[in-house]
Amino acid sequence: MADRELCQVAAVIPAAGIGRRMGTCASKALFTLAGQSVLHLSLQAMVESGWLDVLVIVARTEEMDTISALLADWPPVPTAIVPGGAERSDSVRAGLEWLAVWPDWLHEARHFVAVHDAARPLLSRVLWERILGEALREGAAIPGLSPADTVKQVDGGGRVTATVSRENLMSVQTPQVFVFEKLLEAHRRAHQEGHQATDDAQIWEMSGWSVKVVPGERENLKVTTPFDLVLAEAILRQRGFAHESGPGL
Ligand code: CTP
Ligand code: MG
Repeated sequence: MADRELCQVAAVIPAAGIGRRMGTCASKALFTLAGQSVLHLSLQAMVESGWLDVLVIVARTEEMDTISALLADWPPVPTAIVPGGAERSDSVRAGLEWLAVWPDWLHEARHFVAVHDAARPLLSRVLWERILGEALREGAAIPGLSPADTVKQVDGGGRVTATVSRENLMSVQTPQVFVFEKLLEAHRRAHQEGHQATDDAQIWEMSGWSVKVVPGERENLKVTTPFDLVLAEAILRQRGFAHESGPGL
């Protein structure tokens, strides 16, 4: 990997959703899995790698105090909690704008930002370092996997119109890592032009820039429905975590 001293790495963690598909009205970041908050688990690999200089958690205003209490004395890098927006890309942009005025960016360093869903608690250190390493070389890198199932295209009536070849398809995950200034510029432009996107690579692509996909991990799932909680808990137990779970704070 590139020389640590030549780079600064920020993470923006969107956590301002309400978990509609989970059937709650609270951020999934606040759930507890294997005795730890989903937010803690989602941050662990990045924090432990030592490749993190500043952390921005984007939260709903009403949950900012709870998140602040949850992160007291941890992690060991400057951490900000900023209010999110209506859509995920609004929340990420809020985090990037906070970083844009962060006074401690070093002038001589190259600046990168990782955007990682607060709701992906199974990120491994191996995967984090794979994505980061590629982004430091290429400018932008994201984890992706070939779809496991056969993919069909359907019409409005639910009838199959085509079977899509999986050869050139990837389903992508986070963290997604980019050159900071360029992602900020891309987000500002997309916002001015009224574009939304479900991930940051799409915002980056809208500017015509290329993104490298590295192999993701099936275990790096996003807890989206109650079933994902069961799955995540089982994987954590297999990894050696063993505590009770359930909706957290
Ligand atoms: N997110 C965010 N701001 C929003 C919407 C989503 O910061 N306005 C965050 C979520 O908190 C989550 C991540 O983006 O960590 C991925 O989004 P998703 O899984 O869709 O979470 P929710 O939007 O909370 O869930 P749902 O779509 O089921 O309501
Ligand atoms: Mg959502």
